[in-house]
Amino acid sequence: MKYRWVFLTIFLMLPLNILAYPNGTPHYVTDVAPFCAACHSSLQRETMRGMGSGMAEGELAVYKHLLAIKERREAYKGMSPEDSKKLLEYVQMIDQHTHVSLDAPSQAMVNGEVEVIAQFEGGSGPVIGLMLLDNNLRWESRSLAADGWLILDAPKVIGPDGKTQMKFLDHRTKGLAKNLSYVIVDGIAADLEKKTFSSGSVTWRLKAPRDPGTYTLAIAILYGTEKATVLGRGQTMEGIGQLPRGGFEGHSGRILFSGVQTIRVH
Ligand code: HEC
Repeated sequence: MKYRWVFLTIFLMLPLNILAYPNGTPHYVTDVAPFCAACHSSLQRETMRGMGSGMAEGELAVYKHLLAIKERREAYKGMSPEDSKKLLEYVQMIDQHTHVSLDAPSQAMVNGEVEVIAQFEGGSGPVIGLMLLDNNLRWESRSLAADGWLILDAPKVIGPDGKTQMKFLDHRTKGLAKNLSYVIVDGIAADLEKKTFSSGSVTWRLKAPRDPGTYTLAIAILYGTEKATVLGRGQTMEGIGQLPRGGFEGHSGRILFSGVQTIRVH
């Protein structure tokens, strides 16, 4: 019995080289849902409709992340007032310049083929994540594939350089299908002095559900806000790399949703 605890302690002391949340999720090459991003902050109260206000408000970036920087608390303790002000400005600049939208047809035939395109801009790098979902709810959205849609093949990822990317999808174990609803886009960078941000798109080819009806879909972008500036960089961690100043469990990540699109399947 005693050895179980010894093994557990050793396990917990190992470097977390399979986790990697800041800097993306290179090993989670699968469908994920928004609830996984528990540390991330929200910018949209409406994506938490149905949740008690105390809980929902506590997820908003202003309370979960920005106030700590403003008041130089927690990981931001010890920063000079000028630096914390500047960091706050940079973080808010990234939030203001990050957008995601989803283009989808308004109708589809039962079992018919459709294409949906997610366009994004912003984030701070080195990557952003995109999830194709059945709704825009922070705790309840599922992969679109859970609602009768079949993702026909690997999503087509166009990076900020305009080129097709397979880096994330090729990380998937050989032999497994690549028709995922979640992807990481590589090569993201933000120049906060010039106010320039990365953009790109992801296209999914889908087969519509077999049952007629009205279906909803949405896209979520996961991005970071601190590492784009030296003021927002913390320590480095083995297996993960550069951490934000707020740390591995900080709240500088964001989860931002597009509006909900409706497709009538008939
Ligand atoms: C333990 C806390 C934590 C959890 C849980 C978490 N993240 Fe994050 N994530 C972060 C932080 C902190 C950042 C922001 C880094 C920054 O501000 O630069 C981040 C940023 C990201 C980024 C952008 C990369 C970057 O460094 O800017 C992606 C993509 C991401 N997370 C995906 C996910 C996904 C998918 C999940 C669920 C499987 C998840 N995260 C769960 C803490 C977490």
